[in-house]
Amino acid sequence: MDYNYELARLIKTEAAVTEEILAMLEIPKQGQGDISLPCFKLSKALRKSPIVIAAELAEAFPGAPFIERAEALNGYLNFFLNRKNIADELKDIAAAGAEYGRQSVGAGKTVCVDYSSVNIAKPFHIGHLSSTAIGAALYRIYSYLGYEAVGINHLGDWGTQFGKLIYAYKAWGGDGKKVEKKGIEELTRLYVRFHEEAETNPALNEAARAWFKKIEDGDAEALELFTRFKALTLKEVGKIYERLNVKFDSYAGESFYNDKMTPVLKLLEEKGLLTESDGAKIVDLSAYDMPPCILVRADGATLYATRDLAAAFYRKNVYDFYKCLYVVAYQQNLHFKQIFKVLELMDCQWAKNMEHVAFGMVSLEDGAMSTRKGRVVWLKDVLKEAVKKAREIIEIKSPDLKNKAATAASVGIGAVIFSVLYNSRIKDITFSYEKILNFDGETSPYIQYTHARCRSVMEKAGVGGNKSKALKLNGEVDLSTLADDESFDVIRALLRFPEVLRDAADKNEPCYLSRYLIDLAGKYNRFYIANRIINAPERERAARLVLTSAVADTLKTGLGLLGIGAPPKM
Ligand code: ARG
Repeated sequence: MDYNYELARLIKTEAAVTEEILAMLEIPKQGQGDISLPCFKLSKALRKSPIVIAAELAEAFPGAPFIERAEALNGYLNFFLNRKNIADELKDIAAAGAEYGRQSVGAGKTVCVDYSSVNIAKPFHIGHLSSTAIGAALYRIYSYLGYEAVGINHLGDWGTQFGKLIYAYKAWGGDGKKVEKKGIEELTRLYVRFHEEAETNPALNEAARAWFKKIEDGDAEALELFTRFKALTLKEVGKIYERLNVKFDSYAGESFYNDKMTPVLKLLEEKGLLTESDGAKIVDLSAYDMPPCILVRADGATLYATRDLAAAFYRKNVYDFYKCLYVVAYQQNLHFKQIFKVLELMDCQWAKNMEHVAFGMVSLEDGAMSTRKGRVVWLKDVLKEAVKKAREIIEIKSPDLKNKAATAASVGIGAVIFSVLYNSRIKDITFSYEKILNFDGETSPYIQYTHARCRSVMEKAGVGGNKSKALKLNGEVDLSTLADDESFDVIRALLRFPEVLRDAADKNEPCYLSRYLIDLAGKYNRFYIANRIINAPERERAARLVLTSAVADTLKTGLGLLGIGAPPKM
């Protein structure tokens, strides 16, 4: 139950509707209740002082089982929740265990999530991290809410760059062993060399174009090389996806739409939207303050936008999506605005169900690895370094830990993922190993550590692991002892979890979940410091263990949705 909302419904005044009241509710000062309505904003409309309004509203409040009392104080209307009643809800949370928060609000609805969408033969660098981590988190959250999620890796596997690559490979790739061995790194080197040499020798560009034409025409040799480069890239990228615990339902990339663009262009033509400009075919968007959307170049080649239009139709036809998300950097804002506008002009009602889930840039604090110096920051190196540093910390903190390697992997990789999920998407972030691996900071190691703390408490109490059935959930346990501030704060935080997940999906902001987990972990740690657990009197002990178990499960579920592991010990 959403107490704030229920409360807002019960406060009746002609000056504000429920939603407005809801927005005004805040957390009062220590000792002045649990929820507070400041009455200052109502003062003007009601032509009364806030003090009088608070007193009148307190008088008129109808009461509810979850409210113990309402009190007016200095223009605030303060509500004290009925802690004992609310604490009882913990039973359901603990009973749901690892499934707590799972919902069916999305049943029957499909959400396409276009994410990661890497480019063939190009480095998987730190810039792809955000798309991959945010997209995968949304994919999992939607699934947990009952939606049918479809993860799509819209591979960048088409375009003139492949002609360049084939040229470079044939000219400088030797017997191909190096490419086979070093994969994307070597392909990137060849590609860079092509550009360097083409600067002094423009004829190379002609040659590259010819190779690309051969791919398009289905020339056996060209296709064989193209397919090999693609397989090589996917193999390497696949390893990273495995480490990040990321999966896709479809790898239909740009080349997949080669034969699906003509019908779209025809439709545009029929609707009179396609115009000629310098030999190119475009959709004029000047009426909407946008540059034209170019769909066919003068030389007949189609573009990124043409493929995205075809992909949109394809997704609508095949998945009949309720929402279609594009988790792509904000640099492509214009591109998606254009695509959505063109679809709208084509009378596709469903265009309004597409959303560009944009995010900011990640840069590294460590100057030595700066991309600005022209050096690519490979994601696999970042992951490796983070795991190494996590291992060092673990060696110091927990020298006797058994699964050090697995734990370090979970902590290090988790920290990297969490670093791009902690802030609202659109913010640019600076990445530093020190920051993301700080066990006492707003980091995933902090959450993981709190989770392990819960597990250790349960272990010591003899209700850990598969003994968790020993928790007395079947009516025997008396939760009314959890009415102190610290315990009650944890319970209220736990109760919010399902709503947090819905909000994260509504706004496509995994940070709602990451921030929530930090908040819950902090509240649990305050509870832990304030209360004895294992050697508390039996009644308190039982209740506090139920609380601990619910926190452990919720932290683990939440981390899992973000793509981060929860080691049982740390
Ligand atoms: N491959 C593109 C890039 O790296 C991202 C593709 C995003 N998805 C899409 N449907 N346009 O910039």
